[in-house]
Amino acid sequence: MADRIATAPLDAEMRLRPVAGVEFKRDGVALLEIETVVQSTTIDAPDDQLRSGRLLSCLDGDTTIAVAARRADVGTDAASAILQTLFELGALEDVARRPVPATAFYLHVVARGKVWFHEATRGVLESARLTGPLLFGKLVENYHYVDSAVSHVSTAIAQAPTQRLRLLLGEFLADEYWHGLSLREGLKRAGLSESTLDEAEPLPTTAAVINLLRVVAQTHFLGYAACGGVSESPTGCEGLAMVNEGNWNELYARNLLPDAVLAPFREHEALDAMADHGALFIEPFIERGPLASEECREIEATVRRMCLAWGEAHRGIVRFYGAQTELLPFSRHTPLFHDA
Ligand SMILES: [Fe+2]
Repeated sequence: MADRIATAPLDAEMRLRPVAGVEFKRDGVALLEIETVVQSTTIDAPDDQLRSGRLLSCLDGDTTIAVAARRADVGTDAASAILQTLFELGALEDVARRPVPATAFYLHVVARGKVWFHEATRGVLESARLTGPLLFGKLVENYHYVDSAVSHVSTAIAQAPTQRLRLLLGEFLADEYWHGLSLREGLKRAGLSESTLDEAEPLPTTAAVINLLRVVAQTHFLGYAACGGVSESPTGCEGLAMVNEGNWNELYARNLLPDAVLAPFREHEALDAMADHGALFIEPFIERGPLASEECREIEATVRRMCLAWGEAHRGIVRFYGAQTELLPFSRHTPLFHDA
């Protein structure tokens, strides 16, 4: 397994069980690989494979970490470390509802959020089924999302509990300002004038995501940070950059829109990854002590809600832009009876 961020140890009274949908690839007792729809993690050392496999066999939701370690004949510290890694990968969940170290929970909920996001949006705007208007709509709504960052990041800055967090979020917002301008240039290359772009508005379904983030930034700072961890480019997620490169190359090859239109959107992904935006959102959790079960459930619900809202945002693009013949954005001039 890759090196992971050091986090405080889990409570030995937690009762863990495998998360539904996670695939545990085994060879006999040994656990070789953990796979979700967005990430796969291999366990390299044969000794770790055996210990992980024995521990996993003991996890039924009724057995504490301490008892599982004894039954699996694994030292307490080693068992805790292994199970903590699986928890942080989003492969295990706690049934005992014990307090959880904040950073461990952040990694857990972000890993699960990436799966929820994938599931909520699966099959809606797949590259292979994109048409010119659908791709155009995807880019326009992406532009609105980036351009509206100020509306929720500014609120998060005001709500951030420490000066350090306020500064980090301020830097993030400054990045997004320039990113929004560069995406706008891309849309101009698709033939949109300044005034058309000024009058463009996010689809109601995209606005719902933005409004959700705005409200969460105001009322639930840790939930907001967890949403940021799911949405922003992940750190240290090996292979992801190559997968994205492959997707972009396929998209270019289909000639749905001129390369010059796509270029800033492609560059934006690379810029976000280089700026390591995904790493920012763990910071509020590093500053926190253990999270009570109620706090964890609330953060989880917020992240799920955002993922579902993104699913609706993607469907909104299909409904509106899928019915368009011209490359024109949804705007204040769009008739309200339109099914958007
Ligand atoms: Fe960005």
